Amino acid sequence: MTVHENKLVSEIESLKAEFIKTTEKLIKDVKRQDKIMARSDKRQQQEYDELQVKFAEVETLQKEIEETQKEVVFTMGAIGESRSKETGLHVKRVAEYSKILALSYGLDEKEAEMLKQASPMHDIGKVAIPDSILNKPEPFNPQDREIMDTHAQLGFDMLKMSNRPLLKMAATVAHEHHEKYNGNGYPQGLKGEEIHIYGRITALADVFDALGSDRVYKKAWNDEKIFKMFKEERGEHFDPKLIDIFFENLDKFLAVRDRMKDI
Ligand SMILES: [Fe+2]
Ligand SMILES: [Fe+2]
Repeated sequence: MTVHENKLVSEIESLKAEFIKTTEKLIKDVKRQDKIMARSDKRQQQEYDELQVKFAEVETLQKEIEETQKEVVFTMGAIGESRSKETGLHVKRVAEYSKILALSYGLDEKEAEMLKQASPMHDIGKVAIPDSILNKPEPFNPQDREIMDTHAQLGFDMLKMSNRPLLKMAATVAHEHHEKYNGNGYPQGLKGEEIHIYGRITALADVFDALGSDRVYKKAWNDEKIFKMFKEERGEHFDPKLIDIFFENLDKFLAVRDRMKDI
């Protein structure tokens, strides 16, 4: 080899060594990068997992709140009814009837279910009516009647401050369940569709159940008498559309009444 060739070879050798060194360094860098990536992936996964756990906790709490709200609303309704010596099953049946009416009227499942939960509160205002009037076995005199009738307004006043949708709905139900379609009801004398559909529905559900049950002041009516009265009160006491729905779905109402009989 000439001197020139020798020089070339050694230059190539040193270039090769340089290349190997650079490649090794590159490989090391890539490996380090991978490690960093893996660590950050792991951290991200951990953060994601922690978030999922928190979401699940929030969801459980949310459900808990909803369930508590339902129970409070139902218990308050039962308190209202028990003061007037009615059974807890009365409010349960009213709840079921209200949902059937709501669904057939065209309310969606969520709203109908909410009405089922709110309707037991219709008589909550009775907690403020004296026992001497509530449980009077004789017929009411005009003064008793006047005091008794304040329970609709009283119930509304108790619930109206709430911002919770369910309690807001219950406030409407308490306020308007004694309004009559022809405008002769109380406390506001609202007429037709001025009465909220929640009030119109609960009115029918409540009366249907009350007529069919023994109360301190009266014996239960038989079905024939109830149906005759409902037909007469179509468009008078009750929304005509709801009376039609009632008769079209009579089997469903009777099934609920059968299933939730007073003992
Ligand atoms: Fe009432
Ligand atoms: Fe009632």
